[in-house]
Amino acid sequence: MLKFDFSFAFKENLGTGLSKDEVFNNREFAKRSLLDVIESEPGFLRILKTDEYLDEVEALKDWVKNFDTLVVVGIGGSALGNLALHASLKPMNWNLLSEEEREGNLRVFVVDNVDPHFVGSVIEQIDLDRTLFNVISKSGTTAEAMANYLVVRGILEKRGLDISEHLIFTTDPEKGVLRQIAKEEGIRTLTIPQDVGGRFSVLTPVGLFSAMAEGIDIRKLYEGARNGVKRYSESSADTNPVLVNALLHYSYLKDGKSISVMMPYSNQLYLLADWYRQLWAESLGKKYDLDGNVVNTGQTPVKALGAVDQHSQIQLYNEGPKDKIVTFLKLEKFPGDLQIPELHSEIEALSYLGGKSLSELLNSEQEGTAMALTENGVPNLTLRFDELSESSVGEFIIYYELLTAVMGAMLNINPYDQPGVELGKKITYSLMGRKGYEAFAGKFSEKKWR
Ligand code: PA5
Repeated sequence: MLKFDFSFAFKENLGTGLSKDEVFNNREFAKRSLLDVIESEPGFLRILKTDEYLDEVEALKDWVKNFDTLVVVGIGGSALGNLALHASLKPMNWNLLSEEEREGNLRVFVVDNVDPHFVGSVIEQIDLDRTLFNVISKSGTTAEAMANYLVVRGILEKRGLDISEHLIFTTDPEKGVLRQIAKEEGIRTLTIPQDVGGRFSVLTPVGLFSAMAEGIDIRKLYEGARNGVKRYSESSADTNPVLVNALLHYSYLKDGKSISVMMPYSNQLYLLADWYRQLWAESLGKKYDLDGNVVNTGQTPVKALGAVDQHSQIQLYNEGPKDKIVTFLKLEKFPGDLQIPELHSEIEALSYLGGKSLSELLNSEQEGTAMALTENGVPNLTLRFDELSESSVGEFIIYYELLTAVMGAMLNINPYDQPGVELGKKITYSLMGRKGYEAFAGKFSEKKWR
């Protein structure tokens, strides 16, 4: 179970910022927002009510064992959940282990960007004959995912491999080109439910399939998420960590804290912060509220890694503009630890480290940073994982999905759409010569500096 410590987020300890009374003044508003979210049953909650998507994915378990490697092709919400599960629940050297060491589970690569060097380097690392490509795109129109699909397909065809055995599509149950191609060519498919948007889709086949392929227990992931739903649905604003956190972020945003930093003190948790960054940014950054007023709201999510970014960012967080609220992710028990040898006992700058463990140092650094921020009046909170497990990661996912939806309700915006990414996509289509989009880039030609 995740543990939360909000004590350094209030004026009572900070000496500045918002007091408990000021934050909890909005408790009824937050409670109502949570109830509205639960009653509206968004897709990310609905999917947890049955085993439908677990069953859909597990039906392919034996087939997947034919392969050594899975390459996920997708971007944004069709990639970040896969990366977050991979990083948090598999050893960091997973893709370097032998098949025997992986006990027959698959290596997993995620190809999201269209950087040719990146794509090429993944292709160089795989044995095509033993690789399955999962092309994930809800819309089936995303340029990056489609370009990488074409690249991969071209390579498979050139090698004379059976397309329907080396490709699987994860897409909308009815619409889109991937669905159409799959039907025509007998390519296996997995479903992205229509009521679940990309960035909320990690617990659908989007994230579940690669997780299962690499040996993550997806039923335990669901167990953690389901326990989280129970825990975070209770409506006491003073004890429900979703409500306390929503109240804090909402109140501090209104108070001018326009940046929300997530700082895990664990490399394995770092990509969960990446996943959170998309969820918070794309869901809450909106021009219009639900009544059609221009609000240009949102809070800029920033990820930082402890202790590395203590030597890069913390100077700014402590002494720079007072525009941040910081969330630390802390891991109590690391999957493995290293003892620091007791060497150089005569050198005081080294001897104090001897006999301690690296995890003890890392967690002391987290506590030290939290205290220093508190001393500097920067509101911060700590979310603790006892250990990295499917259950704790599942709980984390549902915690942040619920928190984001509640924040959306409090800000009176739609957290499930992303109209702000459309224009850039259309201009790209125009630049790439897509029919029907000619005008979008043309408009800018006279605005260019020469
Ligand atoms: O959260 C979202 O909806 C987006 O980030 C999408 O996941 C991303 O744009 C990819 O879309 P698609 O799955 O349609 O290719």
